Amino acid sequence: MTRFYITTPIYYPSSKLHIGHSYTTVAADALARYHRRLGHETYFLTGTDEHGQKIERAALAEGKTPIQFVDEIVAGIKELWAALHISYDDFIRTTEERHKKVVQKIFKQLYDQGDIYKSSYEGWYCTPCETFWIESKLKEGNLCPDCGRPVEWTKDESYFFRLSKYADRLLRYIEETDFIQPASRKNEMISFINQGLEDLCVSRSTVRWGIPVPFDEKQTIYVWIDALSNYISALGWGTENDELYRKFWPADVHLVGKEIVRFHTIIWPCILMALGLPLPKKVFGHGWLLFGTQAEKMSKSKGNVVDPFVLIDRYGVDAVRYYLLREVPFGADGTYTEEAFILRTNNDLANDLGNLLSRTTQMINKFSDGRVPEPDPASDDRILSDLAAQVLREFQEAMDRLEISSALVALWKLVDRANKYIDEQAPWALARDPGRAGQLRTVLYNLAETLRLLGVALTPFLVQTPERIWDQLGLEPAQVRTLPWEEAVAWGGLKPGTVIRRGSPLFPRIELPKENGDSVAKEGKAQSGEPAAGAAQPTEGVAEIEYDDFAKVELKVAEVVEAERIPKADRLLRLVLQVGEERRQIVSGIAQHYAPEELVGKRIILVANLKPKKLRGVESHGMLLAATAEDGSLSLVTLDKPDFPTGMRVK
Ligand code: MSP
Repeated sequence: MTRFYITTPIYYPSSKLHIGHSYTTVAADALARYHRRLGHETYFLTGTDEHGQKIERAALAEGKTPIQFVDEIVAGIKELWAALHISYDDFIRTTEERHKKVVQKIFKQLYDQGDIYKSSYEGWYCTPCETFWIESKLKEGNLCPDCGRPVEWTKDESYFFRLSKYADRLLRYIEETDFIQPASRKNEMISFINQGLEDLCVSRSTVRWGIPVPFDEKQTIYVWIDALSNYISALGWGTENDELYRKFWPADVHLVGKEIVRFHTIIWPCILMALGLPLPKKVFGHGWLLFGTQAEKMSKSKGNVVDPFVLIDRYGVDAVRYYLLREVPFGADGTYTEEAFILRTNNDLANDLGNLLSRTTQMINKFSDGRVPEPDPASDDRILSDLAAQVLREFQEAMDRLEISSALVALWKLVDRANKYIDEQAPWALARDPGRAGQLRTVLYNLAETLRLLGVALTPFLVQTPERIWDQLGLEPAQVRTLPWEEAVAWGGLKPGTVIRRGSPLFPRIELPKENGDSVAKEGKAQSGEPAAGAAQPTEGVAEIEYDDFAKVELKVAEVVEAERIPKADRLLRLVLQVGEERRQIVSGIAQHYAPEELVGKRIILVANLKPKKLRGVESHGMLLAATAEDGSLSLVTLDKPDFPTGMRVK
């Protein structure tokens, strides 16, 4: 049985976790869910890193004991993980007895074997960062190079770990394996080790809030051994009940932000080597999610923290997860802006995926009586089935390389192709031709089956949408996660005759907020040449006109003969109209209200003498008449007698 052990760093108890913090955990969750979905025995660990002077001081400032203080914050962190549907198997807190015991055991063992020794230390110390600095690294005015706050000259007796002793072995391990990912971070670490490793201070006499050195009560075990050991203490290493340790160690992946790669690829492996334990197979250092157009680090003091709870409440957990996993190539830095978030959600989720499901279920209702049709056995149309097989392969390869965003890009190739397939195959036209009934059945089947597979492949990333897709396809929603993988992704799993259950749109489109969205919203309306949503003209202030003024507008009956979306333009459709003998192309801003296939065959009213205009590079020769309601819904003006000839003047 394949096993997979993945960890996130343990989080500092911060009362204000921002969207950047969620990044490591959501990514680890996607990887854990992926391995579980493949049937691997998976263990996913996260937790909190609760000791240190900073916490002690923060608690004091609030008039609380440190444990009261961290208990409250940890409850909030767990709430956030619940809101994001983080499927961890264990949550370790460094203040738990089970952890403390293991840390003390490690410390004692290393001391007994001579890998930890006592010595004195003097230097510039930054209390908030809990770091000693050599003078040359300080910023002017004796400020910490990391946080910019004043450092203090501190003299201390401490215990030291013989890091230097393991440098050569570590270097070999790093050079000879793919231990550090992505490769760019590997080179950084190699040059760091080549500059020489100094022994590491692993205790403090000045800090009380922490785990005491078992044989020297005046000393508190300092962050490294305390925090890093969580990865094995949670598995019960060194205790009577070490079954999990034996099963899951060494870890397959420690997923960490780039700023803590060094601790995980240098200090942690050396501690493990000293203990005689196997080294983790991989440390993956991902980039940061920065904020806004200035790409700043999110921080409470800058006031630019994006609260994940607010985003989840407003846009739903799947939109937030999708954004985090898709927006930034995993490994690189990325920037959060609300506009990018909304565009990503609207384009990928509402338009591409949501419309694919909506169009497919609508056509199955209309052309196949609400049942998945039997594909024509004589059909050799393998456009979607071949691509699905290829995309599933690419998706798996990307996930195995921890390239989460590439895995999603691969899946969206299939989403895009399926949407294009609808436009190409034009099922509404096939439906009018009895000789092509077999082809219609095949096309509808292929679309529904593609959606079924997409539902399965999306299970690592999205926590509600796969179930909703399966539900609308008439399948048992829970099985999207439980059906054995090979069976679930085999083409043809959808049974003809299944009664579908068309439901509400997967992702409602998000309007851009006024402050930063005005320009985009305006652009959309002006471009469409159509009445703006919700912009019914008030009668007051509208000038009376003569009949001659009205007669300047040439209105004509027209029939929609072709309709398709315009790529990268959410609101626009390209329509070809039959107007008497003439064919005309117009661009219309109704894509959010009508699917192309609904429009073909409709007779509408065209403003025929409007000056031509290019919209997103496509020529528009006129506009449609439509009415808009206050809620923004839109209704095309159509003819009472649907067969009334086209080209006729409307007065
Ligand atoms: N407690 C240490 C880890 C000890 S592990 C033995 C720590 N905690 S943290 O709370 O500061 O960070 C937890 C994780 O959140 C880290 O992986 C960190 O990189 C990640 N992030 C915090 N802010 C982030 C962004 N803005 N963007 C992406 N990830 C960032 O470090």
